[in-house]
Formats: sequence, C-alpha cells, structure tokens
Amino acid sequence: MDKPKGKILAINGNMISVEQESSIIQNEVAYVLLGEEKLKAEVIRIKGNVASMQVFESTKGLKVGDTVEFSREMLSVQLGPGLLSQVYDGLQNPLPQLAEKFGFFLPRGVDFSALDENRKWHFYPMLEPYKNKLRKGMPLGYVEEGIFKHYIMVPFDWSGEYELDWIAGEGDYTIRDIVAKIKDSKGTVHELDMVREWPIKIPLSAYKEKYTPEEPLITKVRIIDTFFPVAKGGTYCIPGPFGAGKTVLQHLTSRYAEADIVIIAACGERAGEVVETLREFPEITDPRTGKSLMERTIIICNTSSMPVASREASVYTAATLGEYYRQMGLDVLLLADSTSRWAQAMREVSGRLEEIPGEEAYPAYLESRIAEFYERAGLVELSFGEKGSLTIGGTVSPAGGNFEEPVTQSTLKVVGAFHGLSRERSNARRFPSIDPLDSWSRYKPFIGEDKVKVAQDILFKGNEVDQMMKVVGEEGTSLDDFVVYLKSEFLDNVYLQQNGFDEVDAATDRERQEYVFARISAILKASFRFSRKEQARKSFYELRQLCIDWNYKPFLSPEFKDQEQKIEDFLSEYADWEKESVSRQAEPAAENSGRQTNSKEQETEEKDNEENTQ
Ligand SMILES: Nc1ncnc2c1ncn2[C@@H]1O[C@H](COP(=O)(O)OP(=O)(O)OP(=O)(O)O)[C@@H](O)[C@H]1O
Ligand SMILES: [Mg+2]
Repeated sequence: MDKPKGKILAINGNMISVEQESSIIQNEVAYVLLGEEKLKAEVIRIKGNVASMQVFESTKGLKVGDTVEFSREMLSVQLGPGLLSQVYDGLQNPLPQLAEKFGFFLPRGVDFSALDENRKWHFYPMLEPYKNKLRKGMPLGYVEEGIFKHYIMVPFDWSGEYELDWIAGEGDYTIRDIVAKIKDSKGTVHELDMVREWPIKIPLSAYKEKYTPEEPLITKVRIIDTFFPVAKGGTYCIPGPFGAGKTVLQHLTSRYAEADIVIIAACGERAGEVVETLREFPEITDPRTGKSLMERTIIICNTSSMPVASREASVYTAATLGEYYRQMGLDVLLLADSTSRWAQAMREVSGRLEEIPGEEAYPAYLESRIAEFYERAGLVELSFGEKGSLTIGGTVSPAGGNFEEPVTQSTLKVVGAFHGLSRERSNARRFPSIDPLDSWSRYKPFIGEDKVKVAQDILFKGNEVDQMMKVVGEEGTSLDDFVVYLKSEFLDNVYLQQNGFDEVDAATDRERQEYVFARISAILKASFRFSRKEQARKSFYELRQLCIDWNYKPFLSPEFKDQEQKIEDFLSEYADWEKESVSRQAEPAAENSGRQTNSKEQETEEKDNEENTQ
C-alpha cells in the first residue's frame, strides 16, 4: 500500500506545517523527501488536516510544496539483545558507530540500525510447543547478554492468548532470525524474531500489577540510604545549583547502586560534559563483576548542539529502554541529568508552536509532562510471576539555584524523595552536598526511623546553635549547647560526608551503614565529661579524625577492628556511653536480586518460574 503523502505549507526553523488529506496520528513519524535524502520528522500537533511537525535534522533547502511521506507509525525504539553498553542519541542512533562511519559531523538523513543485525546470539528456548497459553510479555526463550538473561518475549501490545506453534532449538541466531511462531485464537500464525518496537511516549505496561515501592534501593551513599532513602521502583530528584555536584553524585550512584541495569540520560548543556561521561564510563570497572561498567549500562546522550526534538525525545527513549529491561524481571535505575535541559527543549518546541506560555515561558503542560515521565517508574509484577522495577532519579538545574522555579516545583510534586544540593555545602566542599536540613524522603529507611530521627534532631539543634553563635559568639553559648553543635558537626563530617574518590569510602553497603550508624548514634547519645569548650572542641576534633580514618578501612578487616577499638578507648576516657548493638528492622534483601546467569540459586528459581508458566 502506498504511504499517505502531504505537502509543506510553511517552514519555521525545525518546525514545518504539512497539509494531508487522510487522517494524521499524533506523534506519527513522517519523512520529508528532499531528492535522495529523507528527513525524519514527528507530528506534534494536529489542527484539522494540517499537522505541525518537527524535523529532527536541519531544514536547510526545504521549500513550501515539498512532499512529506507519512509512516503510519509513532516515534519508536527498537528493543532487543545488544542494547546494553550502547551509546545512543535521543532518537536511538548509535553514536560511536555513526562517528566511526561519518566523523563527528553527521550528514543529514542517515538512518542507522540501533541494534547490530549481524551479531549472533546464543538462544535458549524456554517452552515446549502447544503447552502454553501465552500472553503479552511472556518469555519464549532467552539469550545471554552480559551477565543477564535477556528474555525474548511475546510482543507487549498483543492482546489475548496465543499458543506456541514452533520454537527454534538452542543455537546461534541473529536478531532478525525467526525464533518462534505463535498462533492467535483465530488460528493465524505470527512469526517472531528477537526485535520488538515500542513508541517512546507510551508507557510499556505489559505487567500484571504495579505495587507501592517499599524495598530500599541501596545507593551506598550514606546520607541517601540512611536519611533520605530511595525505593526500588520509586522516584527521586536532585535539584542543585550550577556545579554543586549533581553529575558526580549520579555517576557515583550509577556505579555503586544495587541495580541490575543503569540507563543514563545525559542531557547536558555543554557537549564537553557529555563527552566526559562517554570517555569516563568505559574505563570504570563494575564493582560487582570486575568487568567494564558499560556492560550493564546504556547511555542516551544529548547536547544543546543536537536538534531540539532529539533532546526532547531522549528521556522518553531512556524510559522505554528501562521499562523493557524491567519486563525481564530486572531492577533498572534510570538517571536523567539534567531534566531542566529536557524541560527547556519542551519550552523551545512550545515557543515554535506559538502556544500560550505559562510560568517562565514553559508550556502550560510542563507539570503533567514531568508527572507522566516519573510515573513510568514503578515496581511491577510480571505476567510470569517475577517482579521488576524501574527507579527514576532526575537532576534539576534551576537558574541561580532557586528551587522556586517551575521545573523544580513540578518535580517536587511527583517524586518520592528530594535530595536538594546546597551551594553552601559544595562551597565548603562538604560532599555529597545534599542538604540534610532541607531534603526529605517518603520511603522508609532500613535503619529504624526513631534512630534516624534522633540524629536529625541533633542536626537541627546544632544548626540552631550555630546560627545563634554567629550572633552572640561562642562565649554567649552554654557548654551543653556547644556540645550539641559539636555533635552535629561530628555527624556531618564522619557520616553525611563521604569521599567519592576513596576506594573504600565511596560506597558504604547496607551492613556497614547499620554497623557504623549504631556506633555513631551511641556517640550522639553519650554524655561527655567536659569542663571547658576548648577541651570539648579538641576532643571532638580528635574523635572526628579517628572516625574519618575508620571510614577508609575495609569493613570488618583487622584494621577496621583496630580503629574501632581506638574509638572505644577514646570514648571511655571522655564520655559515659553505651555500646549499642546493631538492631535490624528487617532482614537485608538478597543482593543482586536481579536475574543473572552466573548465579546458581537464581537458576533454580528460574526453573520454578518456568514450571509455573507451563
Ligand atoms: N562527591 C564529591 N566529592 C568530591 N568532589 C566533588 C563531589 N561532587 C562534586 N565535586 C566537585 O564539584 C565539581 C562539580 O561537580 P558536578 O559537575 O557534579 O556539578 P553539577 O552540579 O553537575 O554541575 P552543572 O550544573 O555544571 O551540571 C566536580 O568537578 C568536583 O570537583
Ligand atoms: Mg552536571
């Protein structure tokens, strides 16, 4: 069948108006035909038979009257084996492969396959023909992608039940080889290869149920996990002024957080920032596997020099890839840096459409778009009984660090945790510069809430004393108040701050946080036998150093134990204190809950699940 065609009525920058006689679909992809070149564009508004479309590439040379060919498909991504370790732009063009072929200045109208079509994958069939009632999202088999089992699933938008008609035997196949044939209720047989397509702006929701996120996602950043936790399947945001440490914090999280797959949507202002990410990542080793971190990472990367539409699409592309891996029962973490750039892209598009602007010229639908994006996170139960999660964390970079602006405010309304970075803290090089007085989380910490509350009270009181001292001076402050201030500084220095560049201190796992926090809590509760402020200051200085050094010792190593003894000896000399035992609120979740091919236990679990589906 011939594709419907239209004619260009007007051109305004990357925006064109196109007249078309038959119906037009919102977000439909169309191609402007320019000689040999085909320029990709997306329908973003329809009025009668005129579509406003944004062209993803330079519109130089286009004329009124030129032909546009509609595809009848929405802007989609390709899903299949080989996504991991890729670097894509917002439209899923593989950047390194493009750069290799064309250099850094890409010609117009090139269309590159997002997945390697020639690579062979070893396929393991999972089902016997005719035994199953198959539904959307159910696995038919898997290939090994890095350490994961990459499921080949029934297409996610197919409704009803299917029967397996044929499945390929174990062996090597490309993503375009047919690996299964399934029959619908009318008896029609559908052939399936390993690639699925999905429109990026529509949530992929081929799951049974969505649950309230509760289990913590351990990031190994102490101030986050202990004070302002993130849950698997939850959402959080990191607003922070220019240069306050948003990107460094996200990089640390991408490296150490207990997620199976990390997807980074880098929407940078400067190309340099993004290039840095690209250069850095392949060199980082994954603390879990000892291999390159890239093997479980996908980077979607955009700079302000790329077309606005590609920038706008990038977070949706990232969310779709995240949802896809969640469909396999994995824990996925999506980090968007920075969502402000995405919002600005939205503002540019809205401006070109001449829509009525809202606050700070952002479109009136800014808030709902931000909400829709974060709603794609979630903990879900899949049709084959396993759970998967997609956690979304976004940075926000408000101009001048003013959190009252629309992007920050709209984000705060929808996320489950807020890690606000403070200029004051980053200037004082107190990293991570998350403000402990301002931040919050709706998720439950794994350490008892009462204990966390005691520590937080000390921070608040210490801050009050600090403010007071600025007015009345140290002389005007009582010794008791002064000790509260010293305790709050101590907590900040030895627990909230963390050296991201030290091998040991950069990541504190759950067990260590529980262990150390119990001891820090005991110190916060202890009554010290000080007679003078000078003595108090000196002692706390010494205690602080002892504990910072403790942070650099590998957990439970002989050096760690020695250092702990030194701290206890010191305390016995100056304080009445009680050594607390570590109390557990809940049993620690099994690490690496995701599916991995190298784990025996999980293999067995897997078999059980297979049996269940049969
Ligand atoms: N955890 C940390 N430990 C040590 N230094 C840090 C840490 N976080 C940030 N820094 C310092 O602050 C600098 C700026 O950090 P970063 O690039 O993450 O800020 P940003 O908020 O992402 O900035 P921008 O608004 O430009 O994107 C880093 O280059 C580094 O020197
Ligand atoms: Mg940054």
